[in-house]
Amino acid sequence: MRILSGIQPSGALHLGNYFGMMLPAIELQEKGEAFYFIADYHSMTSLFDPAQRRRNTLDVALDFLACGLDPARAIFWRQSDRPEVTELAWILTTLTPMGLLERCHSYKDKVARGISPNHGLFAYPVLMAADILLFDSNIVPVGRDQKQHVEVTRDIAIKFNETYGQTFILPEPQIREEVAVVPGTDGQKMSKSYGNTVEIFGDEKGVRKKIMGIVMDSRTPQEPKPDAEKNVAIQMLRLVAPAPVAKDYEERLRAGGLGYGDLKKGLFEHYWNYFAAARARRAELASNLDHVEGVLRDGAARARTVAEKVLARARTAAGL
Ligand code: ADP
Ligand code: TRP
Repeated sequence: MRILSGIQPSGALHLGNYFGMMLPAIELQEKGEAFYFIADYHSMTSLFDPAQRRRNTLDVALDFLACGLDPARAIFWRQSDRPEVTELAWILTTLTPMGLLERCHSYKDKVARGISPNHGLFAYPVLMAADILLFDSNIVPVGRDQKQHVEVTRDIAIKFNETYGQTFILPEPQIREEVAVVPGTDGQKMSKSYGNTVEIFGDEKGVRKKIMGIVMDSRTPQEPKPDAEKNVAIQMLRLVAPAPVAKDYEERLRAGGLGYGDLKKGLFEHYWNYFAAARARRAELASNLDHVEGVLRDGAARARTVAEKVLARARTAAGL
């Protein structure tokens, strides 16, 4: 079984990225051949500062390795170190109906938020299809917002196979329903673009401030809260605290008597401990950047064997 996923270097990684995509990916590296990459070509659709892109790419590498991506098990590379993917994207783009891309929520949401779209942003799902199909991927672990893109990938693969003969494997998205959407500090989906994130490796003071700033309602501490399970801090606590601890907080909130301040303090402590070991590993990796570069270079070399083989298959099928 081949597992593949990618993450964009577009800013500091947060709890949504961690629980929605990174942790499932890290756990899956035990279950098959794992291919994980830093999607720096994708970041070009919305980030135009080269130094920032380089910095972010290195940060994602450090974050992912610190969180447990194991280069002895998984192939980990920088997307642009395997340019075959852009050739496959061109081949696939000629079989992609405009309507398929026009229906993509992620594109429509960005346009609705006032982003003036470039062609790359519109064609983004085709590059993502190329990422997935180039490595004969079976399983793609992602958060729920990426599910449609994997479905688009399947549609494009089916179209190619019908047009040029059986060439591509159809991938399946894998979404963890219990963490499909991690809420942000304002209760909406946690996302860099909404400014409501809690970073995985934020500095202590900054994250404490963000957690203490989680938006709550104006009920008094004594009031019972029958909807305790919907509380954003409780939802986050369920991710970073042992299940019985989270349950206990939830019950105390439901019964009345637990103040929101104490709840958020508890959340901060559990968040901070949850990532303590990873934080130490990250500091160690950051002091050995040559090693990190070496991991990415080696990953790109290992990814090459598969990429060249699959691209050759697609070129031949299409008559190139
Ligand atoms: P952002 O919304 O912050 O820009 P990305 O779109 O770069 O995040 O997402 C990277 C990965 O993390 C994707 O697989 C995405 O589904 C997952 N992800 C991002 N935010 C969340 C969230 N709030 N809950 C669950 N998964 C998420
Ligand atoms: N589009 C994904 C995101 O923004 C990142 C990504 C690029 C990806 N290529 C991929 C994820 C291939 C899975 C598979 O999160």
